[in-house]
Amino acid sequence: MARVDEAMMPATPATPAAPREQANEAPLIWLRGVTKVYYTTRTPVPALNGIDLKIQPGEFVSVMGPSGSGKSTLLHILGALDLPTSGEYLLEGVRITGLPDRKLSRIRNRHFGFVFQNYNLFPELTAVENVEVPMLYAGVRAAERRRRAEMLLERFGLGHRMNHRPSELSGGEQQRVAIARALANGPTLLLADEPTGNLPTAHGEEIMSLLQELNDEGMTIVVVTHDWRIASYGKRLVELQDGRIVGDRLLAPAERRLRPSAGVSTQAEGQARAPAGPGAGFEAASGA
Ligand SMILES: Nc1ncnc2c1ncn2[C@@H]1O[C@H](COP(=O)(O)OP(=O)(O)OP(=O)(O)O)[C@@H](O)[C@H]1O
Ligand SMILES: [Mg+2]
Repeated sequence: MARVDEAMMPATPATPAAPREQANEAPLIWLRGVTKVYYTTRTPVPALNGIDLKIQPGEFVSVMGPSGSGKSTLLHILGALDLPTSGEYLLEGVRITGLPDRKLSRIRNRHFGFVFQNYNLFPELTAVENVEVPMLYAGVRAAERRRRAEMLLERFGLGHRMNHRPSELSGGEQQRVAIARALANGPTLLLADEPTGNLPTAHGEEIMSLLQELNDEGMTIVVVTHDWRIASYGKRLVELQDGRIVGDRLLAPAERRLRPSAGVSTQAEGQARAPAGPGAGFEAASGA
């Protein structure tokens, strides 16, 4: 289940579809009564206060809220980077709260792709080497790692930047490398924390268009932002305040910002696009 099979995906709907609720099918993500308290300071800081959230495959969820409302904390828990203080997390119906660290890190590597505001690329590695890193941890062989990394970078219009280090790339290019890296193991869910926070508006919109294109191909996406303009690229809006969900609704077509049909950089730069979805051509990593 660590790859997206385009044949299984519905055609791009003209209007946002309601999250698929099937009586006998577990949601992709199910948080039940999740709380998070930080004990890193003298006074415990409650960051999440009873989060109930279901996410179905193929959704594009924008999580909005003021600074300190718990957005990043929620994203870290969704991506199993951190554990709830109480409550349950079910991934595809399987309870992952309480699993030992070793199992959790395998789940993280296999199911989740992360994109951060600061790109978090390794400065000493080239673009292609950065994209290879998660595959290295997943036990993918060298030739296959290189093939996949090159395919993703080509797809994102970075074919001519493969051997550049992050310092030799623009912010928008670095973030596209980071997205390629997040997709390297064919994740089930792509998680992004303020992915456009360090970018000028035009580059930010390019990144959001790219995420929207990936979602149209079937990738499930959660984006955390405090910016309505960015949130409006999603299909569903979850609003946080003081660690609680205070709003959860599908965005109406008129509210949604849709990418220009030929507006993504990969096409603008005349790069060949991969024929299928974001995980196309990826086999499950052996030994992962
Ligand atoms: N490691 C930590 N130790 C102690 N408190 C923390 C820690 N991380 C976050 N917090 C606190 O938890 C609360 C939620 O923080 P979080 O980073 O999730 O908010 P956020 O909505 O992402 O904010 P921002 O928009 O500023 O990024 C805040 O009160 C914050 O100060
Ligand atoms: Mg944050």
